[in-house]
Amino acid sequence: MAVDFRGRPLFPPGFNSPTRFEADVYDCEVWGEIPSDIEGTFYRMQCDFDYRPPQNEWMTGFNGDGHISRFRFANGSVDYKGRYVRTARLMAERKARKRLFGVYRNPYTDDPSVAHVDRSAANTHQYWHGGKMFVLKEDSRAWTVDPHTLETLGPWDFYGKYTATTMSAHPKIDPVTGEMIAYGYQAKGILTTDIAVYTVNPQGHITKEVWLKSPYLGIIHDIAITQKHVIIPVIARTTSLERLKSGEPMWEWNGSLPTMVGVLPRDGEGKDVRWYKGPSRNTLHFLNATDRGSKITMELPTSSGERDASQIRRWTFDLKSKKDSFQEDVVSTTPGFLPRMDDRFLSLDYRYAYVSSRDMNEPAAKGGGFPRMNMLQRLDVHTGQIEQCPTPDPAHGLQEAMFVPRKNAKGEGDGYVMAIASHYQSMTSDLLIADAQNLKAGVVAQVKLPFRLRSGTHTNWYPQSVLPPIKDELT
Ligand SMILES: [Fe+2]
Repeated sequence: MAVDFRGRPLFPPGFNSPTRFEADVYDCEVWGEIPSDIEGTFYRMQCDFDYRPPQNEWMTGFNGDGHISRFRFANGSVDYKGRYVRTARLMAERKARKRLFGVYRNPYTDDPSVAHVDRSAANTHQYWHGGKMFVLKEDSRAWTVDPHTLETLGPWDFYGKYTATTMSAHPKIDPVTGEMIAYGYQAKGILTTDIAVYTVNPQGHITKEVWLKSPYLGIIHDIAITQKHVIIPVIARTTSLERLKSGEPMWEWNGSLPTMVGVLPRDGEGKDVRWYKGPSRNTLHFLNATDRGSKITMELPTSSGERDASQIRRWTFDLKSKKDSFQEDVVSTTPGFLPRMDDRFLSLDYRYAYVSSRDMNEPAAKGGGFPRMNMLQRLDVHTGQIEQCPTPDPAHGLQEAMFVPRKNAKGEGDGYVMAIASHYQSMTSDLLIADAQNLKAGVVAQVKLPFRLRSGTHTNWYPQSVLPPIKDELT
């Protein structure tokens, strides 16, 4: 039976329907002028769908197939390439010409023929570290692709040293040491409360492995690091064997559960973790954390309940206090939930967050079936002050913003902000570029694509100086 996506609430006709194609655009059309000190590659991931998931699929769409895009910048020009990650899962479904994997992270809903097939959809994030470009999904180990051709290279176990069964899509790279702090949860198999934390040196070798137990079976989608600690929040989106056996997607919000935050010394062992408890908070992604004497501060977007508006808040952990609670303060009420920063300052003292957000004076308009973010913003986390970037098409929606340091950048924020814009009327996408230190001047360039990139997950930037030499030009 041929593919037919009609009748699935996950796929309203229009911008966010599955795209299902790969593309190369050599020397993209550009409106405006790309600054010559942008040299490197912007990557972004989207979940796409080759085959129709079950009717009760999780409405986030996070169970689609990984599709990675790269925009390669040099000398004011851009080349685009988009490719599926050819995971074992995708190729098994293509061979069968039908969906074989069931709903989100629920193997009880899979076709028995894929019981031993790697589950990774490699659809969430991409990181370059230790000579590998990782494409990641938190329920499985890492996969890798070529950073230029995007050719799928296969799964990666760090020379046999990565023993956990999962690797989250949000490892953290220490800008001081060059180490990657990677972790997995449900790390001894599905529904286990085991967490594994790995330190990977800049050459890509694991130098430390720590195991600990989560207080309950909650989502651990992201972590934060400081120079001395790993911060591991466990969030009140939970699951159970009963839920999986009933055929539902993995996660269910349970506001009666606390937020539990593990603070693990980077030079410690699992027994050294200290758990702090707070009220249930709906959050997935964290901006940054910093050691401040005997305290740790961490900024993050979070909401008080499952459906409350998100705010940027600060959690403070007092290492000397005997209490098991943490302090929470509001930094800004801006509703952006995917803030990024100048990653050269990750784990360190920093000032700015870059957020695709929504003009609060505008009604909560929707585009492509999702709440629309239509404003690029820079947030000063010291003062809460926001600078907005007027964008060329107020009817568009913005995907995750990314800070891109200029070539030979100096201090924090010396560079650009990039974000994919979704144009719902023309069914096309642009990559917007603005000067991070002068957002109010508006975008300086728009990289025009003659097609749409459906809602993406995460973005990253790597300067050409850290990537392998380019061999695939004009191919
Ligand atoms: Fe994420």
